Amino acid sequence: MNLFNFKPHQMDLELTKHTSKDDFSPAVILVNRKEDPGNFNDPFELQDDETDYLRKKFNLETEFAHLVKDQKDLFYHFYAPQPAEYKTHEALRRAGANFHRQIQNQGFTSVALFTVNTGFEDSLAFTEGFALYGYNFSKYKSQDQKPAIKMISFPPDAAVAGELEYLTTGLKANFHARDLVNEPNSYLTARQFSDYLVELGKEAGFQTEVYSKARIESLKMGGLLGVNKGSEEPPTFNLLNWEPENARNQKPYILVGKGVVYDTGGMSLKPTPNSMDKMKSDMAGAAAVAGTVYAIAKARLPIKVIGMIPATDNRPGEKAIVPGDVITMYNGTTVEVMNTDAEGRLILADALSFAKKYDPMLTIDLATLTGSAARTLGAYGSVMITNAGEEEKNALIRAGENVYERVAELPNWDEYYDLLKSDIADLKNIGGKEAGAITAGKFLEYFTAYPWIHLDIAGTAFLTSEDNYRKKNGTGVGVRLLFDFFRNKAYNKT
Ligand code: BES
Ligand code: ZN
Ligand code: ZN
Repeated sequence: MNLFNFKPHQMDLELTKHTSKDDFSPAVILVNRKEDPGNFNDPFELQDDETDYLRKKFNLETEFAHLVKDQKDLFYHFYAPQPAEYKTHEALRRAGANFHRQIQNQGFTSVALFTVNTGFEDSLAFTEGFALYGYNFSKYKSQDQKPAIKMISFPPDAAVAGELEYLTTGLKANFHARDLVNEPNSYLTARQFSDYLVELGKEAGFQTEVYSKARIESLKMGGLLGVNKGSEEPPTFNLLNWEPENARNQKPYILVGKGVVYDTGGMSLKPTPNSMDKMKSDMAGAAAVAGTVYAIAKARLPIKVIGMIPATDNRPGEKAIVPGDVITMYNGTTVEVMNTDAEGRLILADALSFAKKYDPMLTIDLATLTGSAARTLGAYGSVMITNAGEEEKNALIRAGENVYERVAELPNWDEYYDLLKSDIADLKNIGGKEAGAITAGKFLEYFTAYPWIHLDIAGTAFLTSEDNYRKKNGTGVGVRLLFDFFRNKAYNKT
């Protein structure tokens, strides 16, 4: 038996079609206010007093109306379309989550969805919010307090089976990412993370290659080895390979994720309250990469993608690197480490220069890289810094709106390099007091020589209070974003 074996949790989410017209309770009926539904008779045969009641609620601009008919609970949700479709979808996701919260403790095990004047995409958005709210990380709870509803059925005529499958895949991928982020370091060392990646690959059909410490040493990945020096646990470098025969791209897309399974800050130790105590989430970028490759492979998208995850913890120790040390990176660049807490960029730099030999079409990295990014955008969006062209950039911004994991660009001006100059080495690993998210991005850019997009998810990856369907703790941010981005690439959908 492998001591470090770490199995993904079972995900029993099921999106199906109604089996029989009468075999459900409760039903949720989405009503788009853009057209008057008349007497509300469809799809149920309502009495006059019932339609009067719904009409009243409709006119009062109420969001939900509840009635019981033939011992079945019917919940009507009235919603108004907004000029921008993505905002309508987001409002529906939030309504779906609110609805889940309201009916959670009433003993229901499944929900049947019906629609009035509602397009399929609107139903999907409501369902997505409903399902995302159903996520719980209950592994360490002796008792599961709030059973979530995991089965949602759709009208057979409306549901396009493929769309339901995509949605299920994206949701499961998001749950895997959330699990990984929520899993504490006591159960998620670099090697255990690698075991999880192998399992994910088996389930979704991609190849996982795990480089051991010896291999990393022979490759001279000085950034990853440097950060790992204070640790008892060896680092790993993980390659997630999805290479379908019908790939539309010659050059691969590469996704790089920061896999710091725990960030104490190293010798530049972090304070514990509201800082180190959240740092099991410092591998959220890697979790997003794992979730995205999982989704792409599971959906068999005709796109060649390689995930790269350098993984280690960052700890003080007798051998730990100290401020002032100089390390030599994979590509030979020397870096003066002035702050051991700026470790993410050191492990990412090795991965980014390793990526070069694959001649990527585009490389996207995701990282909980700086407190500065969180202070800039709060939890409302992720920071983007890029040297890629308008087309890639706009496609990502649009995907961000579609799934409501928005990205906002910060400048990529060359002057910021000045702040990274070292007295004795090629670079130092911190800039000045200001513009921390940008100087971190510039540090990474130094190791790229291809189109590249950097996403700093420090503000969006882990929430300390519940926010609707994103809930609390790990959000799995990045997975739904990139799955949408690559689906559009695969099928030219906008
Ligand atoms: N993992 C942290 C960044 C972080 C902070 C993520 C808050 C999520 C929430 C990163 O390794 C770090 O410590 N960054 C330093 C960089 C500084 C020393 C230049 C930071 O942002 O303070
Ligand atoms: Zn750090
Ligand atoms: Zn970190």
